[in-house]
Amino acid sequence: MASLTITPGRPLQGTISVPGDKSITHRAIIMTALANGVSSVVQYCRGEDCLNTMRAFQTLGIRIDESAEELRVYGKGLWGLTEPSGPIDCGNSGTGIRLLTGLLAGQDFFTVLTGDESIRRRPMGRIVKPLREMGATIAGRKGGELAPLAVMGSRLRAISYTSPVASAQIKSALLLAALFAEGTTSVTEPRLSRDHTERLFRFFSIALRREGSTLLIDGQPSVGWSAAPRLVVPGDFSAAAFFIVGATIVPGSDVTIQQVGINPTRTGLLDVMTRMGADIQLLNQREEAGEPIADIRVRSARLRGVAVGPDLIPQTIDEFPILCVAAAVAEGQTIVSGAEELRVKESDRIATMSAELRAMGAQITENPDGMVVRGLGTTEDNGRLQGVHGRSHGDHRVAMSLAIAGLTAWTPTLIDETACIETSFPTFHHTLLELLTGRG
Ligand code: S3P
Repeated sequence: MASLTITPGRPLQGTISVPGDKSITHRAIIMTALANGVSSVVQYCRGEDCLNTMRAFQTLGIRIDESAEELRVYGKGLWGLTEPSGPIDCGNSGTGIRLLTGLLAGQDFFTVLTGDESIRRRPMGRIVKPLREMGATIAGRKGGELAPLAVMGSRLRAISYTSPVASAQIKSALLLAALFAEGTTSVTEPRLSRDHTERLFRFFSIALRREGSTLLIDGQPSVGWSAAPRLVVPGDFSAAAFFIVGATIVPGSDVTIQQVGINPTRTGLLDVMTRMGADIQLLNQREEAGEPIADIRVRSARLRGVAVGPDLIPQTIDEFPILCVAAAVAEGQTIVSGAEELRVKESDRIATMSAELRAMGAQITENPDGMVVRGLGTTEDNGRLQGVHGRSHGDHRVAMSLAIAGLTAWTPTLIDETACIETSFPTFHHTLLELLTGRG
């Protein structure tokens, strides 16, 4: 079983890159597979989650040539997918299974979608219910609440759906299904979730209208869309987040992370960290594939606790594990509320982060929808945690957050079950070592 040992005592210094954005890579594979012609997706995320989506499309009859630099996707047009001969394994990826279910609901063939033990525990009813309203025929465990899901492709009709949760996976599953439905589908969400699908639709010139918090899309475009000769995936802000917090909380650090996506639906952590007192600069701002990007420079700073309420949850959702680490060493109290979605991620992140950081000496009280973290910054521990033997609970973001927490401890930290880091950031340890040895 893989594990990681973190030896504290050195600052993080240097310039690094992070993997391509995981959310955008999934979507880039989907959209180029449905395009007419050959696309190149460069700087894509080579994490297991995205590779599983790539393999899914290969089994759906799409040729994809994979190299470390690019994916060459031989798109066959809107109706070019073919029935796979076996179940599709989405591994650990909620985005993979939910977006594929939406896409496959309107095909004229049968598919079974499944994933690892964590995926088979996560809620699927949130997409199955609206897709069934569109006419989809989907079966699954617990009446379709849990994977494996069996999707009997059907003729779909447009619906108007108001989602009870701000979720880009729900929104995107419905937008993909809507491409194959008759009529105009509308999707409304309570707060804006990450908008990568909308941006990629526009990048491929697919007509999508926004009216307030509602998206409208006409189904069955007659000609489809052209391939992208070069679709450059921005660096993943959620991967950069570990080093943004790491550089802030380890004294003497100065880190620049190049070419990171700074889509405002993703960068809540920047707002929160800036309010906490972090020293973060966005340099060289530009655009790639309809997404804003920048180089992010971070120098260490003392942090103070803040309140993070429901308004900031969607754009910070994947960064709460690492934000908990920042809060644990800040001065004063950080209160997170309205974040009950954290309980249905790769692990129950309120429970797993509370348990693991408490073992390291942090003071955390769990609430059903968040937590209260009393930072160590003003205690005699002066912002330092204790090195422990922790575990990831199979959650990649918990594993990497604990590694960063370990950098602020007095003694080494050993983290068990770290193979899950492969799902999003296979080069995490290497990049961390580069910064710790000043070779970045
Ligand atoms: C994602 C959406 C978010 C996020 C996940 C990736 C996506 O999930 O937590 O890591 O790529 O659409 P929800 O849509 O469930 O909030």
